[in-house]
Amino acid sequence: MCGIIGYIGNGKAAPVLTGGLRRMEYRGYDSAGIAVIQEGHLKTIKRQGKVEELAKAVNDADFHGPVGIGHTRWATHGVPSEANAHPHMAGRVAIVHNGIIENFSELKSKLTSEGVEFKSQTDSEVLAHMISAYVQEGCDLPQAVQKTVQQVVGTFGLAVIERDRPDVIVAARRGSPLLIGVGNNEMFIASDATAIVGHTNKVVYLEDDEIAICRPDGYQVKDMENRERMRVAQTIALEVGSIEKAGYDHFLLKEIMEQPKSVGDLLRGRLDSENGTSHLGGLNVHDDFLRGQKRFLTIGCGTAYYAGLLGKYLLERMTKIPVDVEFGSEFRYRAPVLADGTLAVIITQSGETADTMASLRELKRQGVPTMGLVNVVGSSVAREVDGGMYLHAGPEISVASTKAFTSQVAAQLLLGLQIARLKGLSITEGRSIIAALEDLPKKIEQTLKLAPEIKKLAKKYAHFNNAMYLGRDTLYPVALEGSHKIKEVSYIHAEAYPAGEMKHGANALIDENLLVVFLVPKNALYSKAKSNLEEVRARSGRVLAIATEGDKEIAKEADDVIYIPEASEWIEPIIANIPLQLFAYYFAVERGTDVDQPRNLAKSVTVE
Ligand code: G6P
Repeated sequence: MCGIIGYIGNGKAAPVLTGGLRRMEYRGYDSAGIAVIQEGHLKTIKRQGKVEELAKAVNDADFHGPVGIGHTRWATHGVPSEANAHPHMAGRVAIVHNGIIENFSELKSKLTSEGVEFKSQTDSEVLAHMISAYVQEGCDLPQAVQKTVQQVVGTFGLAVIERDRPDVIVAARRGSPLLIGVGNNEMFIASDATAIVGHTNKVVYLEDDEIAICRPDGYQVKDMENRERMRVAQTIALEVGSIEKAGYDHFLLKEIMEQPKSVGDLLRGRLDSENGTSHLGGLNVHDDFLRGQKRFLTIGCGTAYYAGLLGKYLLERMTKIPVDVEFGSEFRYRAPVLADGTLAVIITQSGETADTMASLRELKRQGVPTMGLVNVVGSSVAREVDGGMYLHAGPEISVASTKAFTSQVAAQLLLGLQIARLKGLSITEGRSIIAALEDLPKKIEQTLKLAPEIKKLAKKYAHFNNAMYLGRDTLYPVALEGSHKIKEVSYIHAEAYPAGEMKHGANALIDENLLVVFLVPKNALYSKAKSNLEEVRARSGRVLAIATEGDKEIAKEADDVIYIPEASEWIEPIIANIPLQLFAYYFAVERGTDVDQPRNLAKSVTVE
């Protein structure tokens, strides 16, 4: 989604702004712009396309003012164009906005009837005109912002500057993430901390309906009634190295390759092999509460949803507690029947996905206890859930989620294990799950060694425009995630089916133009899955199988086989997903798509 950056200090604003925008480009990227106050003028520049285009143009122009704001846009209202790119200007004011102004038509009609002329098709521009009008009337900038946002229905992360007041940036938040970075005689505003890493690691996360007034030497946070709020900066652990490509061609490959470490970081300190259970300090609940749980309700979007779906198979088996899994975008508008004893598990990498967030708030309204499995520390979901677990996967920059998925599934195993042990799972079984988890980083590392072989296969199959991913039991959610991944990054049509369901309809699709990626490792359903594979072959399907090392039989049935290491049933689906991530990556590279920032997608979807 859109990214906002602001700078006020003694240095030059422009390089900080373009640098921050580059780091946030993964959030959304159809256009970008900055505005800087310079010698009594508001100097603005915008470009359609990538931040790189903007950065070049900024370099060629003379931007040296010490205060400014910037934005990368992911279109909601109005096509991607320079006119619709932010900052939006009105009178002496420039604004950048992330979110959606739901009542913008009414606000726009009112302004138009007063003679205001709009230069863009965006909802955001109304904010610029409203703030400007209040400034004209004599309000100071914080008051003008306050009065404006009080009339807004919808969501906003907002940063505003005024030509004649180069000593202040005003920011406001409702529903869209925003933070203040506290530097030494300089302050930053950003949608996410990655934008300001390297400048400062002291941040204040704004809450909804807060306004921040930032000057080079300090900041104030107020609520909408102008009451001051004491907000002390916290120190975050984020290093420049963790948000750079470290020699890889793409963040996606870097993040896939990081998985032994990222999952190791999730597990560290949380495994109790002696007692065959997990230690989860952040759940904030007593054992009796966990013993009393009768149902899980898992919520997520995109990859996080598929992680939840895989979690259902694993958790039901482990805890004997029923698990429902819902898309955030569906759940938020349903009339769900929530049984007593339901524990909601909210899965999200960013912790900012609007649909997930709205579902969380609905659950809280209905008194359902909530646990978050969240990657981004200090994000909105992390702050609003009753308890939970950070994934500690490190920043995930590539739009397509990989290492977060792996950690989201492993985190559910940790959560399930703690509950299962409290509800009677034997210590021996608990210990065998712990052993499987301890094995996980090593097994992933082994699987990643398949990269060169998978690269060749991706090249071989890259001309296919349709793919079907098949698997049974825990491998079905893996098939869904695998097809989701290749769709996201290579733009081909791909779907997934439970292998046993093919005969009820989708077999009709099979011919030599359909690539079938078949997950058929040696597990309890091996022989069933293998006969499904034979059915596909009998209908001329081209089969790429994912099978267990040493399984010679499968090679007779498939065109090609990727052999994964043998693994416990608890981690096998996580391992089986790794070649699918690599396959999607190399397939996309082969087709020449924008791997890290696929068209029409954004990393963190903070609007509906
Ligand atoms: C976007 C991203 C997906 C991601 C989904 C959920 O659609 O493109 O990669 O899976 O949001 O994001 P979350 O941050 O809530 O896990």
